[in-house]
Amino acid sequence: MSTSATDHDVADLDLADLGHQRIAWADANMPVLTSIRERFAKERPLSGAVIAACLHVTTETANLLRTLKAGGAEVLICASNPLSTQDDVAASLVRDENIPTFAVKGENAELYYAHIDALLDRHPTMTMDDGCDTVSRIHSTRPDQVSEILAGTEETTTGVIRLRAMEAEGALKYPIVAVNDADTKHMFDNRYGTGQSTLDGVIRATNVLLAGKRVVVAGYGYCGKGVASRARGHGAQVIVTEINPLRALEAVMDGFRVEPMEVAAAEGDIFITVTGNRDVLRAEHFERMQDGAIVANSGHFDIEIDLIKLAEMSEGQRRHVRPMVEEFSVRGKHILVIAEGRLVNLSAAEGHPAAVMDMSFANQALAAEWVMANAATLEKRVYDVPRTIDAEIARLKLETMGIDIDRLTAAQEEYLGSWQTGT
Ligand code: ADE
Repeated sequence: MSTSATDHDVADLDLADLGHQRIAWADANMPVLTSIRERFAKERPLSGAVIAACLHVTTETANLLRTLKAGGAEVLICASNPLSTQDDVAASLVRDENIPTFAVKGENAELYYAHIDALLDRHPTMTMDDGCDTVSRIHSTRPDQVSEILAGTEETTTGVIRLRAMEAEGALKYPIVAVNDADTKHMFDNRYGTGQSTLDGVIRATNVLLAGKRVVVAGYGYCGKGVASRARGHGAQVIVTEINPLRALEAVMDGFRVEPMEVAAAEGDIFITVTGNRDVLRAEHFERMQDGAIVANSGHFDIEIDLIKLAEMSEGQRRHVRPMVEEFSVRGKHILVIAEGRLVNLSAAEGHPAAVMDMSFANQALAAEWVMANAATLEKRVYDVPRTIDAEIARLKLETMGIDIDRLTAAQEEYLGSWQTGT
């Protein structure tokens, strides 16, 4: 089915000039993606594909979509989070790139799913998710469309966890490439991207001084590692909470205090959840928090902070005190929640910087190419990004940064391939 950008739902097309300018700014910091785009324009490896992208609608995503189009794909986009859309970018995608775009910052749950449906109505042959919502929607409401889909890709940890659970249950009905699990994705985007952009969101929303504050980071995966290390870099005292002994140990060895949330709740000035799980901050923690505690989430879904309970505890005593900051009063104590407990880095700031999304989206573009080349043999399971793609992205990134590295000598190569040499 062919589409046109007259099919769209965006906030305001008059914002397109600003969006266009900002997309170009991001592009200047995405050299790996640019080189892929130039090759794609010549080789057209995605010809015939209709790609439904359910991603955060940002300047960086716009450059990914331009790359997929250059590769010959027909591209459709909707938001992967109700608060993360950059409305100027959405406008420019429609006006300048002719991409059917369905995304409005602040859309409610009904519109959010209507936008996913608008993409599915156009019968995609590939899905590109950030959080698995398109895959979930197809599996639960449109099983008849599954056979039209060659494969999907998944951008984020939370989505990959869900997809692996679907695979384990035999419920996954088409192949998925776990882009998140590529080293050039999670070791950089999750750590350095989330680390910087999460604090950016907290600071933009509150203008808080991090130096000297006690920052509690819940979760010490790659995202938590990034947030904890960047908060420490700002001069904060960082306390990590974990449920995984290995990660807790790692946090201790990295020099952080590790405590149960029950204890940390009474000590923290700022709380940031990055666990991927639900109810990480709940009633007993709100009870213990100090007056003026700031609470934010940088995990994919808005379930890490039990806001329903907090609202109940505050008995209607809640008010917006700044854009993106809501104050809940609990028996005279104030708890400040940023961005409704949604992804703080994308809701209150601009998400990860382009230089790091360069690698994440290079993985997306090359994974789409790999799907097109291998579609006939793929099974209904979760695939890793091939190591050769990962290595090539690392090589290209270093090259664009002007950094050279050593190469193995012939003797070293032989040594690594041998087992006879010892003491
Ligand atoms: N996820 C985190 N940061 C992002 C960005 N800038 N663009 C798209 N997805 C993101």
